[in-house]
Amino acid sequence: MSLREWPERTRGASAPIQNETTAFMLPTIAGDIYDYPAYYDLVYGSDWWAEFHFLLDCFEKHGQRKIQRVFEPACGTGRLLYRLAKEGYKVSGLDRNPRMVAYCNRRLERHGFPPSCIEGDMSDFRLSRPVDAAFNMINSFRHLATGREAQGHLDCLGQCVSRGGLYVLGLHLTPTTVEPSERESWSARRGHLAVVTDLWVKDRDLHKRQERCGMTYDIYTPTQAFRLEGEVSFRTYTAAQLKRLVAASPAWEIAAVYDFGYDVEAPIEVTPATEDAVFVLRRK
Ligand SMILES: C[S@@+](CC[C@H](N)C(=O)[O-])C[C@H]1O[C@@H](n2cnc3c(N)ncnc32)[C@H](O)[C@@H]1O
Repeated sequence: MSLREWPERTRGASAPIQNETTAFMLPTIAGDIYDYPAYYDLVYGSDWWAEFHFLLDCFEKHGQRKIQRVFEPACGTGRLLYRLAKEGYKVSGLDRNPRMVAYCNRRLERHGFPPSCIEGDMSDFRLSRPVDAAFNMINSFRHLATGREAQGHLDCLGQCVSRGGLYVLGLHLTPTTVEPSERESWSARRGHLAVVTDLWVKDRDLHKRQERCGMTYDIYTPTQAFRLEGEVSFRTYTAAQLKRLVAASPAWEIAAVYDFGYDVEAPIEVTPATEDAVFVLRRK
């Protein structure tokens, strides 16, 4: 398949995984994959529609207060934040990577909104004023490496989100009755720039609750092609471990759980086989 034939964005087995065949040919830059917000945003920012509308539906269905102020911990490029701002919400975000923060703020300003993303650690932060809802849609929560950090995160959010408000938390659970997924590939193109990402599990230690993943972005422009290569780590959660974490946090209760179909009319029952899960937590 040539670059021209690619759909705007593809995922999974049907995606054009060129890595095995082209890897040896591409000049490679090693580093932190999150230091390249423009490439991240091209791939993951294309996929906003379902998550965006799901969030609006959740605010409506599960919020026990009017949702006006929303906050995204580990917001990255803020691909959903600026769209929520355009929808009329007061938005803010936090990320520990200064390049992500700068990218997010530049885009907010370009669209006429305050640069409300701050640099910080999502396991230990305060906001200057409370919010009505928070969200964290694709596994960023799992970057918190220890139980203490995860608990700290829920505690901090509990202090920031007002009673009756929500925390919408999307993550991959580790299923215990079926094999967990090992690999995911995405691609997207804008004009003459095309990016193919690949994320694969290098090792998974369920005892240490650690998943170490390799990640590459293959970048193609008319004049050059190169690879960015890095590693990301995730803490693992079985369904039971995630439920225990929430139960241990006095601020939160589980209002409903969904899958990555993002259909607010189709809540799921979490079982030991569940992998894709979006927990809608309500502030008690
Ligand atoms: C996969 S990106 C997700 C960005 C965004 N939430 C989204 O849905 O597109 C993960 C982000 O988490 C950030 N991150 C990782 N650990 C963090 C921490 N402890 N505190 C704040 N941000 C963190 C990274 O810098 C990166 O921007």
